[in-house]
Amino acid sequence: MEKASDKLKSWKKLASHYGRFKKIEMKDLFAADTKRAKKYSIDLEHFHLDYSKNRINEKTIQLLTDLAEEVGLKEKIKAMFSGEKINFTENRPVLHIALRNCGNSPIYVDGQNIMPDINAVLAKMRKFTEEVRFGNFKGATGKKLTNIVNIGIGGSDLGPVMATAALREYWAKDINCWFISNIDGSACEDVLSKIDPETSLFVIVSKTFTTIETLTNARTCRKWLADALGEHAVSKHFVAVSTNAKEVDKFGINTDNMFGFWDFVGGRYSMWSAVGLSIALAVGMNNFEKMLKGAHTMDRHFAEADFDKNIPVILALLGVWYNNFYGFNYYGVIPYDQDLKYLPSYLQQLDMESSGKSVNALNKFVKYSTGPILFGGAGTDVQHSFFQLIHQGTNIVPIDFIIPAISHNEIGEHHEILIANALAQGEALMRGKTVGEAAEELRRAGKSPSDISLLKRYKTFTGNRPSNTIVIKKLDPHTLGMLVAMYEHKVFVQGVIWNIDSFDQMGVELGKQMALSILPELQGNAEGIHDNSTHNLIKLIKKIRR
Ligand code: F6P
Repeated sequence: MEKASDKLKSWKKLASHYGRFKKIEMKDLFAADTKRAKKYSIDLEHFHLDYSKNRINEKTIQLLTDLAEEVGLKEKIKAMFSGEKINFTENRPVLHIALRNCGNSPIYVDGQNIMPDINAVLAKMRKFTEEVRFGNFKGATGKKLTNIVNIGIGGSDLGPVMATAALREYWAKDINCWFISNIDGSACEDVLSKIDPETSLFVIVSKTFTTIETLTNARTCRKWLADALGEHAVSKHFVAVSTNAKEVDKFGINTDNMFGFWDFVGGRYSMWSAVGLSIALAVGMNNFEKMLKGAHTMDRHFAEADFDKNIPVILALLGVWYNNFYGFNYYGVIPYDQDLKYLPSYLQQLDMESSGKSVNALNKFVKYSTGPILFGGAGTDVQHSFFQLIHQGTNIVPIDFIIPAISHNEIGEHHEILIANALAQGEALMRGKTVGEAAEELRRAGKSPSDISLLKRYKTFTGNRPSNTIVIKKLDPHTLGMLVAMYEHKVFVQGVIWNIDSFDQMGVELGKQMALSILPELQGNAEGIHDNSTHNLIKLIKKIRR
C-alpha cells in the first residue's frame, strides 16, 4: 500500500457513506427487512456468527470489502500463510498457522520446510505429557507429578491460563494447574503455599528466557524446591519452553527437558506451540491436538472464504467501521461461559499489543485511529458491573457476545437463564427504549405524572448500540481453537487495513528500560535523573521501606 489508509479511494467512499448513514437506526433496518438476521449471519461447522445487530446495510458491507480488496488483503493473507517476512520491523515471517497446519503441507522459511521441526516438538510434547500423566516421569522422591506450575508472563502465560480454564472439563482428574506470572512475591507465595514440592512440576515458559519477571519467579521456585528436596531434584521438577537453549542451560535446566519453538511465532500467538505444554499436561495431547484442528479449520476458512462470507474478515471490517468512521474506540468481549472468563484478558494482549501502534508501513505517524481499547468479562457477572455504561453511557462500545448453546453443567434452569440474559443484552442494546416508551411503562406501573416526568429520561435507552453474537455448540477443544484463531485473524486483517506491523511490541520496551535504571536507585545510593514526581516517589518509598 503506497498511500496512507485514509487516503485510499474506498476509505473516502466509506467516509461519505458514513455521512449519509450515521443517523440510521438499526431497529428501522430490522423492521424493513425480515431476513436481516439471515442475511448478516455466517455458519462454519457448529459455529454461528450473527452480525445483523450492526449499523450496516448492503452498501456498507460492499464498501468495506472494497477496502479489504484495495489494501490487497488477499495477497497479504497469502503472504502470511506462505511464510513471507510480514513482520517487517523485525524481518520475520509470522507462522502461528504452521503450528496447527494439520494438513501437514510444507511451509518454507528461508527455503527450508519447517513442518518436520514443528511435528518433532509435537511428538516430544506427546511423549512427555503422557509420561507425566501416566506417572512414568516421576518427581525426585518417586511421586507422581500432579501440580503443574506454569511460570511465564504475557504470551507465555495468558494462553495457558485462558485455555486451561476454558478446558477445565477435560482435565485429568488428579492434575491441578497453577500459574505464576507477576513479579510480585505474593504471586509466588500464593502458589507455593498450596503445593507440595514432591508432586510439583515447574514449566518455565519464556521465548527469550531473559524476561525479568519469569526468571526471578523461576529462581525463587527453584530455590524453594532445592531447599525442600535437594539440588539434585531440580532436573526432575523443572522443564523449559523457549527459543533460547543457551539461557535455559545457564539457568540449570537440562536442554533434554527443553521444548523449542521459533522466532516466527510471536509470544501472543504461541499457545499452539510448546508454550501450550501446561494445557497439554492438563487435558492430554489428544485434546490439545483437537484444539489445533479447530484453529486449522478457522485458518482454512479465513484463507479460502470470500470476504463477505469470511468470519474474521467481517469482524475486522466492522471493527474498522466503528473505530475509524463512528469513532467508537472501545470494544467489549463478553463470553457467557464461566470457563471463558480469562478470554478477555487473553484478547487484550492479542489485540492491544498487536494493534496499539502509531507508525505505519510507510514509516509515517498515522492520522487515523488504530487499535481500540478492549475489555470484557464473563456474563452475567459484568451485567452487574460495567453494563450500566454499555447501555446508557455516552461512549458507545461495540460488543461480541459469545454463547455456547450447551453447557458442560446443565444444572436445572441455569443455562437457559444464562442464555436468556445474553440474548436480552444484545436485543436491549439494539432496540433501546424511547422517552415515550419509558413514560408509558411508568404510567402502567402506577406512577404519578410528576414521578413520570422526573424519571422518564433516566429510564430511557438510546439503543442503536452494536453487537455481534457468536453461538458455539459447546465449549470444547475444537471450538476453543476456532474461537481464538478467529480473533487472531481479525487482528491481522485490521493490521493490514491500518497498514501497521501487528507482530512487534516495541511499546513495552521503554518502561522495562526505565525500571532497570530505577532498581539500583531503590536498592542503594545511586541517583538517576528523573522528573521531580518520580524522584520524590523513589525517595518516599525508600524512606518507608527503611
Ligand atoms: O510484554 C512483552 C512481551 O515481549 C510479550 O510480547 C511476551 O509475550 C512477553 O513479553 C513474555 O516474553 P518471553 O516469553 O520472552 O518471556
